[in-house]
Amino acid sequence: MTDAATLTRDTAATGAPLLKVEGLQGWYGESHVLHGIDFEVRQGEVVTLLGRNGAGKTSTLKAIMGILSKRSGSVNMGGTETIGLEPRHIARLGIALCPEERGIFASLNVEENLMLPPKIADGGLPVERIYQLFPNLLERKRSQGTKLSGGEQQMLAIARILRTGAKLLLLDEPTEGLAPVIVQQIGATIRELKKEGFTIVLVEQNFRFAASVADRHYVVDQGQVVDMIPNADLDANIDKLHAYLGV
Ligand SMILES: Nc1ncnc2c1ncn2[C@@H]1O[C@H](COP(=O)(O)OP(=O)(O)OP(=O)(O)O)[C@@H](O)[C@H]1O
Ligand SMILES: [Mg+2]
Repeated sequence: MTDAATLTRDTAATGAPLLKVEGLQGWYGESHVLHGIDFEVRQGEVVTLLGRNGAGKTSTLKAIMGILSKRSGSVNMGGTETIGLEPRHIARLGIALCPEERGIFASLNVEENLMLPPKIADGGLPVERIYQLFPNLLERKRSQGTKLSGGEQQMLAIARILRTGAKLLLLDEPTEGLAPVIVQQIGATIRELKKEGFTIVLVEQNFRFAASVADRHYVVDQGQVVDMIPNADLDANIDKLHAYLGV
């Protein structure tokens, strides 16, 4: 097992991270679920959190947003320590979460859903640019949330955080339950967002998909980051990864 703290220091040598998480612990009420999450993301990088069911991936994203009942350790965003800040203040540092359950409002149409999240910072993408990135949402602009396919809902859930001015996007299993062709589209979109300068933390169980979009992978197990694998080294580590993920 690799020492996660050592990994963090090693990667820090090559540039100041946009997000740096150190010794993050988290609780739901009395239930202690995160026991030491260490990872970092530099501006413009895509990193994944991989791990089996219940490993603590979603809880890590929630802890970064400040929406667990309690957290400790350090979550530094662009030089600001966020432990102790209110969730709305954390969001204003330019962080947005796209949750696994997507949260599309069924009674609103695509455009209304798109316009709903409040702006948190300057520099959000104009609606025209969002429709360029997601041409099928433009076609479905007046369709109600209930009429959208799973893939369209996922696209919309990502699309609407791009307007807010968030620079760091936390995406929780965006490919879950989607057909391979849609998964490919989401992969293309993530690569496009990276080119656009967004920084992305992606939670994934599908590591083939993860390999097609990410620079680095962090393995989460039992509430801890237990390994970091650069994408270029993924093939060489495939047996180890299978063991971590239990697949
Ligand atoms: N709302 C909650 N209240 C109490 N415990 C929770 C809650 N949500 C998750 N947990 C527990 O926290 C631990 C980590 O769960 P988490 O949802 O972060 O895992 P995950 O890696 O995202 O898993 P999955 O791949 O299934 O989404 C698990 O033991 C889970 O049972
Ligand atoms: Mg999860």
